Amino acid sequence: METYQDILVDRPQDDILLITLNRPDARNALRNNSLLEITETLCAAAADATIRVVVITGSQKVFAAGADIKEMAQLDAIGALIDNRPEYWKAISAFHKPLLAAVNGYALGAGCELAMHVDIVIAGEGAKFGQPEINLGTIPGAGGTQRLIKTVGKPLAMKLVLSGEMIDARTALAAGLVAEVTADEHTLERTLALAGTIAGKSPLAIRLAKEAMLKSFEVGLEAGLNLERKSFSLMAASADRKEGIEAFLEKRKPKFSGR
Ligand code: CAA
Repeated sequence: METYQDILVDRPQDDILLITLNRPDARNALRNNSLLEITETLCAAAADATIRVVVITGSQKVFAAGADIKEMAQLDAIGALIDNRPEYWKAISAFHKPLLAAVNGYALGAGCELAMHVDIVIAGEGAKFGQPEINLGTIPGAGGTQRLIKTVGKPLAMKLVLSGEMIDARTALAAGLVAEVTADEHTLERTLALAGTIAGKSPLAIRLAKEAMLKSFEVGLEAGLNLERKSFSLMAASADRKEGIEAFLEKRKPKFSGR
């Protein structure tokens, strides 16, 4: 396994890859190199058929404190314009396998935006979410203004982005920013268990379901329903659907091949 500077990469079980953000001295601030390492890891995971699900986590105290403010301070307007970061974020959002996050502690700025890039967030009850860029005299730069409003709606998104105030895990749960809240000490364990459940499904069905659901952020209902119908029809040609239905009828556990 590769050695990285900003992340740790593990295989807690054969079909799950775990990325741990690991810059404790900078509160896991996501400098460019962190995003590069995440992107490279996801790119390798996309090509490795044995990996079915990827989980991203931080430490017990902090998921990620945002973009690296010290690095950001060095960027002028043109530097920001030609920065690689948008490409890294695009690569993260284009990852076609399920991406889960186990969030404890602070998920701020780009940390909150990273949480919004993943498919399912499980938060510890002490987690705090926020877009504090306004306190730095700037605005979110990794999709926060767009994804937050689509995820939690206008009133809360406006409050977070315009005031810089944080919300706790229960508020994030009520708002739909996270899928589940657990005790802090169980966040990763619960996320890995959920990842294990998802890893046991047909990877083909998982991929098409994820693609269709994410499309709903971009297209109208009719176009989304068309994509869903085509993907649903495509699944009828798969060995996995045949196996899933046969296994149900034969009262046994299905064994999905991804074909
Ligand atoms: N970037 C760079 N360094 C950071 C950092 C960040 N985002 N957040 C914390 N650090 C560094 C601090 O500078 C400090 O370094 P030194 O030891 O060298 O002084 C170290 O981490 C510890 O920081 P604190 O003493 O502040 O730690 P804490 O545990 O008391 O507080 C925190 C934790 C609440 C997360 C606090 O550090 C904080 O508020 N951080 C900044 C959060 C923020 O403003 N994020 C938005 C960044 S901009 C952005 O993300 C733009 C975008 O959308 C793309």
